[in-house]
Amino acid sequence: MVLINDVGPRDGLQSQAKILDVSDRLQLIRAIATAGLRNIEVGAFVSPKAVPAMVASDQILAGLEDLTDVTKTVLIPNHRGYQMAKEAGAQRVAMVLYASEGMCQKNVNMSVDDAEQSARATIAQAAEDGISVSTYIAVSFGCPFDGDVDPEHVARLVDRYIDFGVEEVVLADTIGAANPALVKKTIEPIIAGLDSAQLAVHFHDTRAMGLANVYAAYEAGVTKFDAAIGGLGGCPFAPGASGNVATEDVVMMFEQMGVTTGVDMPKLLAASSLAMQLTGTAKGGRARAWLDRQYQIST
Ligand code: COA
Ligand code: ZN
Repeated sequence: MVLINDVGPRDGLQSQAKILDVSDRLQLIRAIATAGLRNIEVGAFVSPKAVPAMVASDQILAGLEDLTDVTKTVLIPNHRGYQMAKEAGAQRVAMVLYASEGMCQKNVNMSVDDAEQSARATIAQAAEDGISVSTYIAVSFGCPFDGDVDPEHVARLVDRYIDFGVEEVVLADTIGAANPALVKKTIEPIIAGLDSAQLAVHFHDTRAMGLANVYAAYEAGVTKFDAAIGGLGGCPFAPGASGNVATEDVVMMFEQMGVTTGVDMPKLLAASSLAMQLTGTAKGGRARAWLDRQYQIST
């Protein structure tokens, strides 16, 4: 059994030219939940000037209160975002830390040290508030500004953030720079010292290695994977970041390997079609044409 966290409604939508209104975002999230996904990143409490697509994420959380069997995560860039998320009733927040100085400066105008200090205070507050925290380590496999990232550096960061008290660390390949050998080399020593529930991975398909990287991480012992419906995605702050690995491709691969995902493929394809229709830019997974024939769906 693997757990897939669909980040399409956040990582996916934040980079689209077209900004969806709250009701469209809710419709997309509900379609993903209907397909059986039990972990969804539903919004972000970020500056509306920096990321206009994520405005009104409080209304998104309010509109999903009945989805009690779905773990809904919201992204926060700073303590202000944390306060807003808490006021909106968030039960799980994702924060972003950085494997490189360049990416940290570009994304939040801070040094890594300052970002860590700020995150640490937020993590402590969240523990008091009973809100669980997941931390992304952006550019874990390569940075568009600073280049290669040392796997040992990533391992040290994982240890540090677990010590800070986060429930989960997500190694994010923000610009799709990873390859399966690097994934294996990075993850094997890290996962040896953790409970596998404490580690997740987030791959982009920029260089067509998204699914290969998912497989390499799985082989290394990872059981939690981010993916985005329809392959939506791309961080607007990272040059060259294209779509996330598509949820439908990841589900297809695991199910064909005999690994349970809990996802209903025809319903997932319906959610993917909705993402395509709403955004006009989602491409659908790489296997979309084959999956459509397999399930006789016309889009
Ligand atoms: N939610 C809403 N607004 C926020 C905010 C938050 N969490 N944090 C800051 N702001 C607002 C401030 O009120 C200020 O607004 P104003 O211009 O109307 O006065 C503005 O954002 C800038 O605030 P400042 O404290 O100077 O922050 P900054 O410019 O150093 O950084 C970030 C702003 C980081 C909060 C903003 O760029 C952001 O939200 N980025 C999103 C990053 C992201 O989503 N990354 C995803 C991974 S790709
Ligand atoms: Zn991403």
